[in-house]
Amino acid sequence: MPKTILSIVGARPNFMKIGPVIAALKAVGMAAPLVHTGQHYDEAMNDRIFQDLRLPQPDVNLGVGSGSHAEQTAEIMLRFEPVLDRLRPDALLVVGDVNSTIACALVAAKKNVKVIHVEAGLRSFDRTMPEEINRVLTDQLSDLLFTTERSAAANLMREGIDPVRIHFVGNVMIDTLLANMELAVPAMTTVGLPGGYAVVTLHRPSNVDEPKVLERLLACLIEVAAAVPVVFPMHPRTRARIDAAGLLPRVEAAGIKLLPPLSYLEMLGLMRTARLVVTDSGGLQEEATALGIPCLTVRENTERPITITEGTNTLVGTEPSTIMAAFQDILNTGGKAGLRPEFWDGRAGERIAQVLMREL
Ligand code: UD1
Repeated sequence: MPKTILSIVGARPNFMKIGPVIAALKAVGMAAPLVHTGQHYDEAMNDRIFQDLRLPQPDVNLGVGSGSHAEQTAEIMLRFEPVLDRLRPDALLVVGDVNSTIACALVAAKKNVKVIHVEAGLRSFDRTMPEEINRVLTDQLSDLLFTTERSAAANLMREGIDPVRIHFVGNVMIDTLLANMELAVPAMTTVGLPGGYAVVTLHRPSNVDEPKVLERLLACLIEVAAAVPVVFPMHPRTRARIDAAGLLPRVEAAGIKLLPPLSYLEMLGLMRTARLVVTDSGGLQEEATALGIPCLTVRENTERPITITEGTNTLVGTEPSTIMAAFQDILNTGGKAGLRPEFWDGRAGERIAQVLMREL
């Protein structure tokens, strides 16, 4: 009997991780059904990215939508349990660190269904971040843990995870990036610019939910925009916060190009010819490293330290003087040159399938 591995996606950053895994599982003859929790549901946050990535239509969509963390997590668990009972997979595979990841892993673990975590062991050591809680707990529930960088294994072992369960396979998100380079939509088409601009994304609650912090960060972007064009595709949460704080006119007057969330291929095309990336996203730090584009991360910490030690990433926090000094450095020197980390080579999905063939 071929093994059945049930995969979960819920929110945007999951979508660019799951395609290479499902393709590799199918290539070795496993059944690979997909459940979407519906955590992200906007056309821009969901449908267009699914299409761009040519992902299979989910077998089930739980349609949970937004809510508080407790509401969202609980609702996913309630709706997922009967689906798991019906599909009876040999194992559940979850990716990343969103609420859908922990919710489905918890349901499966309590039913003695094996849990596989892709992108295990990343730690920001900042438990005020909801994702950090999701990471620690998902790893504790997992039977097999696949890591993207070597530092992750040390984090897991410190938390008591048996090293035989940990497998360093590389980064599936970079599998997706490399497979889609040729298809990327040129920035000229998306924003009418040939290159040389700054791409900005901000959506972390710590940066956008507190009006004072948000205003300070936007003031920096306005200063950046005086030197290079700034393109800012906005998460719906960020758009709502900027609106509520009455800051939209100031941002627009500075010439910052505000866009709705972009599709995957538009975003890839935009990053590829950027002069720099300014972000608080986890995924963009890795994508910028893979593309060799300097990245300023507007956070105090990162769970992806290899993007700093080997890649193009610099942590700049939220202090304007630090942000602007790092920006000046990019203008003066071109910024940090980086290497592409070990196993960020387009074959992480295949390595995962090989391990699962052996272990399940
Ligand atoms: C989630 C992930 C975060 C990831 C981010 C990427 C968790 C804990 N966080 O955060 O790690 O970086 O996705 O996008 O899972 N909204 C919409 N349309 C949508 C989805 C959300 O308008 O399709 C709005 C809603 O107002 C919602 C808010 O965005 O309340 C936040 O959405 P939610 O799914 O709770 O978390 P994200 O901030 O998107």
